[in-house]
Order: sequence, then C-alpha cells, then structure tokens
Amino acid sequence: MQFLPIFFDVNNSTCLVIGGGEVALRKSRLLVKTGARVVVVAPHINQELADLVCTADVAGEVKERAYQSADLAGATLVVVATDDASLNKQVSVEAKAQNIPINVADQPELCSFIFPSILDRSPIVVAISSGGASPVLARQLRARLETLIPAGYGKLAQLLGKFRAPVKKRFKTIGQRRAFWEKVTSGAVAELVLTDRSTEAETMLQQWIDNPETAEQSGEVYLVGGGPGDPDLLTFKALRLMQQADVVLYDRLVSPEVLALVRKDAEQINVGKARDKHTVPQGDINEMLISLAKQGKKVLRLKGGDPFIFGRGGEELEGLADAAIPFQVVPGITAASGCAAYAGIPLTHREYAQSVQFVTGHLKNNSIDLNWDELVHDNHTVVFYMGLIGLPHICQKLIEHGQTPSTPVALVQKGTTAEQKVIIGTLKTIVELVAGEVVRPPTLIIVGGVVNLSSKLAWYGE
Ligand SMILES: C[S@@+](CC[C@H](N)C(=O)[O-])C[C@H]1O[C@@H](n2cnc3c(N)ncnc32)[C@H](O)[C@@H]1O
Repeated sequence: MQFLPIFFDVNNSTCLVIGGGEVALRKSRLLVKTGARVVVVAPHINQELADLVCTADVAGEVKERAYQSADLAGATLVVVATDDASLNKQVSVEAKAQNIPINVADQPELCSFIFPSILDRSPIVVAISSGGASPVLARQLRARLETLIPAGYGKLAQLLGKFRAPVKKRFKTIGQRRAFWEKVTSGAVAELVLTDRSTEAETMLQQWIDNPETAEQSGEVYLVGGGPGDPDLLTFKALRLMQQADVVLYDRLVSPEVLALVRKDAEQINVGKARDKHTVPQGDINEMLISLAKQGKKVLRLKGGDPFIFGRGGEELEGLADAAIPFQVVPGITAASGCAAYAGIPLTHREYAQSVQFVTGHLKNNSIDLNWDELVHDNHTVVFYMGLIGLPHICQKLIEHGQTPSTPVALVQKGTTAEQKVIIGTLKTIVELVAGEVVRPPTLIIVGGVVNLSSKLAWYGE
C-alpha cells in the first residue's frame, strides 16, 4: 500500500488551489463541501469557481495573478491544477520542502496525497483509491457501491450517532451492544429512517432501549414486486430487502432466478402452490403474514411483476394495517412493461397509440367481466393479463364491439425470461396461430397497432 488512507479535517483551514479552470473547480467544490477556506491563485479564474469560493459558508479568496512562492504561507494543503509542467514541479518541490501536503492533478509522482473516488452518504464516507494506477477502475468500483448503499444511510448514521451514549449506558457488554445495533441497523428502525420516517424511528429506538424485549417482537413485512422474470429488472431496494428477510412467502410467478437472490438462510414458503397442488387461500396468506411478523420476523412477501397490478397486494396490506404491523411496498416491473419492452412493442407511440389500458382477461363462467365498448378505440393499446384461456372470447368480443378484425395482437409467453416466446397475429388469426403452438403460462396479450412495430424493434432472444 503506497498511500495511507486517512480522513483529513480541513474545516476552517486555508487550502490553496493553483489553477483557475475546470479541474480546479472540481477540486474546490470538494474542499468547500468540507468547510475549508479556499484560496485560488491563477492568471485567469473561471467565474463559476470564483463565485463558489467567494460565496462559500467559509468564504475564500481569489487572486487573479501568477503564483508566487509566498502563497504557500499558512496553507494547510495545496492543490495544483494547471497544464504548466514547470510550474507544477516548482510548487511540488516548494510545498514538500515545507511539509505541506500537495496534490498535482494527473501527476502522481509530484503528489504527497491523492484524491480518492468518493461515495458520500455523510457522515458515512467511502473513499476508494487505486494509488493513481487507474482512477477509472476506482470510479467504476464506486458506482457499484452506489447501488448497494441506500441514499438514506447518512440519516441513519446520524440517528445512530445520537443514541450511542444511551445505548452504551443501557447495555454493559460490547457483545450486548453489538447484538442490539445489529438488530437496529437491519430491522424496523433502519427501515423507518430509509423511508423518511425518522421521527417514528427515533420513538421506536427509544422504546427498544427502554424495553429491549420489544425489539424482539418487532417484526415487519416487505411487499416486494419481483418483476416479470429477468432478475436484472429488480430494483436496488427489492434486492436489499430480499437479502435481509428472515422468511419469504412467494408466488408461483416469481422466477427461480429472482428467488435465488433471497438471503440464503431465509425460510422459503411457496404460497403459489401448496403440497397438494392447490393455491393457498388468500385469507390464509394474510394470516401467515401477520402471525410471522408478530413473531418478530422480517417477512418478505415476494410477488411476480408489481404487487399493486393484479397482484392482490392491497388486500394483504389491509390485513397488516388492521393488525398494526409495519410494512413497506416496493414496486416491481409489471408484466405489461417487461413483456412489451422485451418484445419490442412500445405500449404508446405518437402515431399508433395515445393511450394504454391494462385489463384482466380472466375467464369466469365462460365470460370476462369487462366494459368492451370502452376498450375499442383507434390509436389505443389494450393489455390483457391472465387472458390465455379466454383468448377466443377476447378476440370475439372485441370484434363484436367494433374493433377491426385485422387489428394486430401479440401473445408474449414467459416474457423477459430465457423461455420468452412471442406469437404475432391479428384478432382474426391469433386463435388459430396459437392452436398450432405449445404456449405455456404466464402469457400476456397485447392488442393494438403498436404490435406491428415488433417486426422492426424486437431485440431480445433468438
Ligand atoms: C395474477 S397476474 C399478476 C400480474 C403481476 N402482478 C404483474 O404486475 O405483472 C398474472 C398474469 O400476469 C401476466 N404475467 C406475469 N408475468 C408474466 C411474464 N413473465 N410473461 C407473460 N405474462 C406474464 C400473465 O398474464 C399472468 O396470467
């Protein structure tokens, strides 16, 4: 390790920046953020840089002239950002002779310190350095960490900092304190902070300190949309909650690839199909969620697509709300968006569709409860969920209510997965086309002029 990673307090200290261009501006922004008093010296100084420095909380100064050795007097650190090689070298030699830390942009050999790539969730700050070998690699690593660390982590750290002393007083051993903090950072208190409910989080944390057994009983439910199948379509938040749940209740529609991302030691309960091959009744699922949360568990309710689109998510949450169980909802990519995108069918298009409707095609007693007149329009897309069995009925009804028989129809099987299959026909031909194919659920039906675009825009799969 060539450089010692340290965090340097420059609050109210004078930091000298030599150079007045873009790079100097970038470095100065960082210095200003940490409360440094920035002094810029250069024959020409970018107006934005001058404004930044002069209007900062700790106001700095700009000196629009050439560098003089005397400028180093009183500097806590120096940053050089010029393309004058001999000036860069001169400042480096002079600063090093006076033991003033120096950074010269893009010339690691002249530096006594370097700027890392920074992930800022103040007061949590992660600094990554490649020792000057590859700043691009360090930036890429930082970008990956950005996706893993929720934006609200700073607020969480602030709250925990506030309670450090009371927790130390309440729990005598390091082991007890560690166990308590682990419960806080991966449970209901942290989730309240991350969902912008810091006041409730503070009240709960105080309760847990006063009465540690309440922490053991504080379960919660995460209602998470697992998307249509491709695990890359999960949100960061869905993945985070999937990794911290103790138990997961999942549906038949959740793809094996998505399920594989749930915490390895979490208990998995398939409520899509029970052992006797029947779906667990909705009332039983609602009760299971409540009872598991009451045992203090973090319960993940993982659904295919989006939980609020033909997902019965609302019914499950009503039960939780009645039982005063804390919950949060994470939207997922619904089948219509996923299948349309992966089949190259834009659901709206300035020329072919100004509106789109998502409806159920579920056949009950040989009929589908829909207002068919409302679905029949020019320049309109209709997406049928759960419509495979009712396909002949759907086509017949749309034609009966005035839709042109040549209207294009797409059937998307297992959209966004390796088994995706797209069959395209018209209201008149699709039933016959499908009869000649093996089509497996889940399948989505898209009706409207936009379907024709698939021949030009399809990009996924073979
Ligand atoms: C009970 S609904 C659930 C919808 C889900 N909540 C959503 O937002 O996508 C089930 C229907 O969604 C559609 N569906 C879900 N995933 C699909 C996929 N990967 N490919 C095609 N259709 C899908 C099918 O029409 C299926 O019958």
